[in-house]
Amino acid sequence: MKPRADFEINSLCEEDIGNIIEIEKASFSDPWSENALLSSVNGPYSLTACAREDGRVIGYVMGTALYEDCEITNVAVLPPCRGRGAARAMMERFLSLCRGKGVGRVLLEVRESNAAAVGLYASFGFEVYGRRKEYYSAPTEDALLMVVELK
Ligand SMILES: CC(C)(COP(=O)(O)OP(=O)(O)OC[C@H]1O[C@@H](n2cnc3c(N)ncnc32)[C@H](O)[C@@H]1OP(=O)(O)O)[C@@H](O)C(=O)NCCC(=O)NCCS
Repeated sequence: MKPRADFEINSLCEEDIGNIIEIEKASFSDPWSENALLSSVNGPYSLTACAREDGRVIGYVMGTALYEDCEITNVAVLPPCRGRGAARAMMERFLSLCRGKGVGRVLLEVRESNAAAVGLYASFGFEVYGRRKEYYSAPTEDALLMVVELK
């Protein structure tokens, strides 16, 4: 396994779309389409953070920031690159970008059984404030709604 922090943290651009699709397909049973992902990278209210290694994206956090709220829409790391601190480093950058934009709270949804993601978010101070029954399919599962107030 490579060392924990052998990657750069910066933002996504349109040219990363091939890597993003690969990570999305490797990570989710219902991956977003290329068009939806491109809108998330390029949208007027989009905020992104990514980890790059050897010139390619190995993970990303994407969200939409509108006034005081930001919604995180996509978080994933390429499977062989997990467990090395990439998601933690990307979240740090993402939340710092949010603070820079004057965002006061960050919201997201996560599968209830997704211990790695829930653990990641909890370690940044996110708390569960609600639940959406049977929100996800393949397999059917509740979504936990999480929020963190930025200081
Ligand atoms: C969730 C995910 C992004 C974490 O990425 P990662 O790069 O492996 O995470 P990191 O190595 O930066 O770990 C950050 C923190 O996440 C938590 N975490 C990561 N893997 C974990 C696991 N298997 N079990 C419990 N907590 C875990 C820990 O709090 C960890 O902090 P620590 O290393 O200081 O203990 C990754 O597992 C992933 O891509 N999963 C599939 C896609 C997904 O579920 N996305 C979230 C959708 S809401």
